Order: sequence, then structure tokens, then C-alpha cells
Amino acid sequence: MATTEPTTPTTALPLGATVHVGSDAAREWWRDAVIYQVYPRSFADGDGDGIGDIPGITSKLDHLKNLGVDAVWLSPFYRSPQKDAGYDVADYRDVDPLFGTLADFDTMLAGAHDRGMRVIVDLVPNHTSDQHAWFQEALAAAPGSPERARYVFRDGRGPAGDEPPNNWQSIFGGPAWTRLAASSTAAGDAYDEPSPQWYLHLFDSSQPDLDWTQPEVRSEFEDVLRFWLDRGVDGFRVDVAHGMIKADGLPDWDGHVAMVEGSSDGDDAQATDPGAPEDGSTGAGNQGPMFDQDGVHEIYRDWHRVLAAYEGDRCLVAEAWVEPLSRLARYVRPDEMHQAFNFSFLTTGWDAAALRRVVAASYRANDEVGAPTTWVLSNHDVVRHATRLGLPDAGVRPNGVFATDPQPDEELGLRRARAASLLMLGLPGSAYLYQGEELGLPEHTTLPNEVRQDPGHFRTDGAEAGRDGCRVPLPWQADAPGYGFGPTGATWLPQPDSYGRYAADVQYGDPTSTFELYRAALDTRRAEGLGHGGLTWLADHADAADVVALRNRDVVVLANLGSTPVELPAGHEVLLASGPVDTTLPADTTVWLRA
Ligand code: NOJ
Repeated sequence: MATTEPTTPTTALPLGATVHVGSDAAREWWRDAVIYQVYPRSFADGDGDGIGDIPGITSKLDHLKNLGVDAVWLSPFYRSPQKDAGYDVADYRDVDPLFGTLADFDTMLAGAHDRGMRVIVDLVPNHTSDQHAWFQEALAAAPGSPERARYVFRDGRGPAGDEPPNNWQSIFGGPAWTRLAASSTAAGDAYDEPSPQWYLHLFDSSQPDLDWTQPEVRSEFEDVLRFWLDRGVDGFRVDVAHGMIKADGLPDWDGHVAMVEGSSDGDDAQATDPGAPEDGSTGAGNQGPMFDQDGVHEIYRDWHRVLAAYEGDRCLVAEAWVEPLSRLARYVRPDEMHQAFNFSFLTTGWDAAALRRVVAASYRANDEVGAPTTWVLSNHDVVRHATRLGLPDAGVRPNGVFATDPQPDEELGLRRARAASLLMLGLPGSAYLYQGEELGLPEHTTLPNEVRQDPGHFRTDGAEAGRDGCRVPLPWQADAPGYGFGPTGATWLPQPDSYGRYAADVQYGDPTSTFELYRAALDTRRAEGLGHGGLTWLADHADAADVVALRNRDVVVLANLGSTPVELPAGHEVLLASGPVDTTLPADTTVWLRA
């Protein structure tokens, strides 16, 4: 191949340059682990009520083992009124009856461990449910009381105190403050409150924010960590890890907050724009006085010590929508957390230059602190990548898709999703998979609005579709009611007809299926040590600006994000390909070659 200059200037990405060096030194398991996210209510239903549960997860552990993942992360299954699908926790030390019992959890954990897989659980420390005992106590107590001090209660502004304490907006839409009802002797009659206070909720009004400056809040959560560590969990995914400390004085802020920052506007100007930031930013960072305050790091240093007292390299992974990547890397300094989801990568559109930029910036930032990068393409909060990449503009990142919106090209989305996943799994570091992506599952993009449940849909008065479309129950069996989600065919959200094609049972053993592609990729990744390998950009393939070309150990990864086929180097053994290849690499295809 010719080695002409790429058409997109990439000053910080000299082709031929090594941007990350691998290592065979002994390392903690999470540094290169592939971790599978289970969203319990939609994974598998054991009891037939149409909602997934922990026995359902246990029944599918062999699927995960067969897939070859190292660990499983479970979204919340704790006691909760389910106003935000369990991210509104009423009791951090118990399983919601909807999902089973603590004994069911122990059985599932043992089953995973027996199969050599680790288990990470979700911790939701920024807020509790309004049904949590603490919040109920706060409602019954007087302003200024220790019970109220656990949350962010404030007097209102204005002469009558009837304006919110500041102008913050909830991430789900609407104001971030709710005023207690008049005579909010609320839960009890002990106290008569002439001018009711307001409480802060960055999310739904049923999710009051805790005040993390309070020592009691800190010690309670350290106990919660120990409760699950004692049960044997291998780590925690920390919800809104960048939100627990707010700027002093809670100053007004006029910026925009959203579930996925930069969403809905279709602005992917960072992609091929030669002036795009070399720091890899894509607009995925939450901003404002409620996010990424320096004080959060003190909490993680404390938690690091709690985990370090246990054997087995327990870990913390940050859900922190923070940019630039150098700022995100502060969460994974050696004495803090261990991983942080790379949302800049997730929100990069289908653009080779932008991907090279974000990948290089990720290693630059994390190598600085000695932490692995943590790749992710889908989760329960974003449009599945098999759909995102098939939208008319693959650069947009909407908060859900309405039936009335322009619909994705399903075949194109799947082809790109397979290529994107094979590229991701060829990169050194850890990677998270979201349940169903191993089946190539698309988003449900034609859900009737009547069945939507995401509070984000309601709090925006229906302006945003919300996240239900990526949370639809999984198809396990093509010819069973509910595609085998559970024994009765009931599913808490309707599945689209297309899910029959994606059912796990029709994919097992079919070498062209997405499941078998993922299985082979995880197998090869492990055999070749790619997770702890290095990354060198390949100059030989740089004639195509639309090709991401890299070498990781003895494997060359080539991803063609353009629309025209690219000639493959002669004489290379093809280890894996996301689609058919011959002497050329077709559009929207990734290949792994023996170097
Ligand atoms: C992030 C979680 O991933 C999301 O699902 C949830 O709604 C918010 N945090 C609030 O807990």
C-alpha cells in the first residue's frame, strides 16, 4: 500500500507512533477484563412476572461463561419503589422482592464464581429513594435537624420562600428542587413548618440528593460497601461518581444538563474537523457546580482503603460523565478508583479521525496515572450502538428514538456495530459489554409512548423518548412466547418482531452470528494478550483517512469506517473479521490480522 499523507492532519497522532506500551507484568484482573453489564429487569425472568430477576440471571450464567466474559456488573436490584428502575434505592442492604432474595443473590454469586467469573454490583451514593428511612425521617424532622442534614434541604428564595434555592435543572428535566408540602409535618405531626423547605434532586423528585459533607453519610456508605464485600462481591460500579459534592454555596448555573451531554443536537463537529480538540473531548462531559468538584476525590480515597482491606483486587468503576479525559483520569489515580467508563469513546461518531483522536487521548491521560482505559459502546442509558450507528446521522446521540423519528438502517447499524465492537475489543485495556450487544441487538425504536417508563420521558413532558428502547427484555429463544425471556411470555416492555432474528438460540453455533463473533473475539483477545498489549498506529495503512489501523502485540487491527473498500495487505492471515473479507476490507468492517 502507498504511504501517502492522511488527508486529516493528526499532529498529536503521528502514524507509526506507539501511543501505549503493553506489559506482561503481574496485574490486577480488572486491568484487562471484559465485563458484561446485566440490567436485571430485562435480562431473564425466572418467575414469569415479565420482569427479569436474580434467579433468571443464575439460569443464564452458562451463556455468559460460553461468551467468555471475565466479570458481570449488575445494575441495581436493591429494595426500591422503582421510580427510576432501581436507581432509587430504599434499602441498600436488601434485594427487592421483584428480583428475589438475598439468598438468590448468594446463589447467583456463587454460581458466577464457580464458573470463574467475577461480580460487580451497582452503588448509588448520590441520592436515595424518597422511600429510604433517612428521607422519611428527614420529612418528619425540623429544619436544621440532623435528619435533614443528611440531604440537601434549603429555604426557598423570595419573601415567601416559594422560589427554589437556586436555578439548577434536573438531568431528567424540570427543576432540581422540590418544595415540601405545606404543613409538611409530612410523615409525622411532630413539627409544624410554616415555610416549607426545598430539597435538591439532580434526578427525579423521588431521588433526593444526599449531603456528602456529612460524616454520617460517609460512614453509612462505607458500611454498605463492607456489607457487599463481606458477601463476596468483586467490586462496585459507582453511579454519578462525579456528582456527590456540590460547589460551596450552591451557586446558580445557566448551563444545560442532560443524561448524555451534547445529546439531541446532532453536533458531531469534532469528528473530521481538523481543529477538533486533541484531548479527545466529544461534548460528553457534564458541567456545572454540581459536577466534578475536587471534593469527590476524598471520598474515593476513603473507599479505596475500604476495598484494599479485602483480598482479591476488589475494584471501583466510576460512572462519571467528565471531560476532558485528563480530568476523568483523576478518578483513577493510584489511590482512588480503578476504572472509569470512557464516555468520550462511546459518544464518538462513526469517524476514523475522531476515533484515533479519542483513543490516543485516552491512553495519554490514563498512562499518566497508571490506570487502564475502560472502553464501552452501549449501556442502559444510551441508544444501543447497533442503532446509533445506523441512524441517518451516525454522529447524533439522541436520548431514545421515537416511532415518529427517522428510523435507523438496521442492516447498516449492525454491520457498523460489529465493526465497532471488534475494534474496541482489539484495544488494550478493559471493556464493558451491555447485555444483548453480543446478539447485535438493536434499540426498540418504535415503542408506543403509552408503555414508556423512563422518568426522563415524563419530566421532559414527552419531548425526549428516554431510555426504555435500550432496556427491552432480551430474546433467548426465537420460537417461544416473549422470545423465551421468561416462562410465561410476559415482558415488562414489548419486544419488536425483529427480536426473533436476534434470539440467542439461533445464534449459538452459527459462525456468521454476532454471538459467535463476540465469542471468538474474546477468545482471541485472551489468547493473544490484547487486553494488556500495546498500541502502535500503523503507517502502512494510512493512505485511507477512513481506516483506523493499529498493531497490538502480534495482531493488526484494521477498521474501515469509510464507504469504499480498502486493499488488505497481501499474505496476512485473517484471524477474525466483522463481515466478509477477501483481498479487500469492505466499508464498515473490521479485521484482525496476524501481524
Ligand atoms: C446513572 C444511571 O446509569 C441512570 O440509569 C440513572 O437514571 C441515573 N444515574 C440516576 O441514578
